[in-house]
Amino acid sequence: MSRLLQTGLNAGKEPPIKVVDGEGVYFILSDGRRVIDGSNTGGPLGHKHPVMVEAMKKAASNPVINEGWFWAEREAAAEDLINIAFGEEKSWVGAVRFFLSGSEANDLALTFSQALTGRRELATRERAFHGMAGLAREMTVQPQWHGGLAIQGGGSKPVPAQVPVQIIPAPSHAEYGGSPDNRPVADRMQGTQEKLSAVAATIIDYTQGGIYYDPEYQDYVANAARAAGSLWIADEVVTGLGRSGRWFAFQGAESRPDIVTLGKSLAGGSAPAGAVVMSKAIIDEMKDKSWQTYSTFRAHPSAVAAIRAYLSVMADGQLIRRVQVLEGRIRAGLMEIARKHPSVARVDGFGLHWTVELHGPDWRNWYADTVEPPIASRVAARAIEAGAIIGTSGEQTSLFLAPSYIISDAELDTLLAALDHGLEVADAEYERDKA
Ligand SMILES: Cc1ncc(COP(=O)(O)O)c(C=O)c1O
Repeated sequence: MSRLLQTGLNAGKEPPIKVVDGEGVYFILSDGRRVIDGSNTGGPLGHKHPVMVEAMKKAASNPVINEGWFWAEREAAAEDLINIAFGEEKSWVGAVRFFLSGSEANDLALTFSQALTGRRELATRERAFHGMAGLAREMTVQPQWHGGLAIQGGGSKPVPAQVPVQIIPAPSHAEYGGSPDNRPVADRMQGTQEKLSAVAATIIDYTQGGIYYDPEYQDYVANAARAAGSLWIADEVVTGLGRSGRWFAFQGAESRPDIVTLGKSLAGGSAPAGAVVMSKAIIDEMKDKSWQTYSTFRAHPSAVAAIRAYLSVMADGQLIRRVQVLEGRIRAGLMEIARKHPSVARVDGFGLHWTVELHGPDWRNWYADTVEPPIASRVAARAIEAGAIIGTSGEQTSLFLAPSYIISDAELDTLLAALDHGLEVADAEYERDKA
């Protein structure tokens, strides 16, 4: 028995593969196979990117500095983030504090909002995932990720709620299938402003649960939050810094958030890091206040070196333009696959983050309280035979594709072909259940 308490992106008890190494867009498995790493939001530049490797080698000779000590490279990383990533947002951007992960950044952005507004309640949208620590976990409303215990014979012991959480409707957009709601946004979102009336912060992300960016929706939520006295936090942990095909997903609409949270790609996959970026207006409110939170390893010299290296690779915008090109290819490939496979219920996505949802049980009733791998995990297991690893986010009927930005056209085609192969198992079950 392993002495490690395992968790995984593909539900089920056993890890489907053993990774021993990685190179470029590939994972290398214990049996020697090289497979495409197809769902890795933490690895935007793939594995062993030479700029990242060089920066991390240099960082090994840094001193041990905690968050409370001045470190010039940390100041430089903040400047880089603001000048490079937020270069088009100069009139909006205020200042940044670095954290250890996306979860921590969200937890601290939420507690900050409670302190600033004097309110306790928080809001998110349906099927959201914002992390697994503190208030980030409270805002993760996918039923299987409650942070507590799933009983393998059925049932669960969730963590008791810490705060009242308001859940507003999600956008209903889909590139294929689904059940789009074509009513005007104000009708679809009726009652939202009342729900936000006692809320400290409304946190919205752009991918989780297979629910994607919708500019009209963003502007509606931003206006409703502002009118209700709630801050708006844009959770760009997945979408920020390139994956959405622009620096930030929020840039696709008119509205601008009060706070942006970052993680995942921030340190190029070479170190754990998160960040809370505040608007100028919030920083103005902070003039006579200090934010009383500290942690030993936040903005550690290794994390700071990795952040600077990642931003240096992204600075000229070439990789973001490449994500835009790849978006067209992955969309076309997925539409073809969806039309071919009757088991596919819905496809949506943008940039280099796409979700394929299968027909099957409703996600609202999935608690991961079984040892049987669900259908999405069985599709992912079969896709490995055809050369790619595809994740499910622990969902029962959804798979997501999120390869690194350095993937070639041919490698993307291999990833799509692996999904195509994997879906045969879902088609067979779908046809059997229908009969
Ligand atoms: C939208 C979103 N926010 C926050 C997080 C939490 O980030 P981390 O797992 O790095 O703590 C995730 C993780 O998947 C995420 O998808």
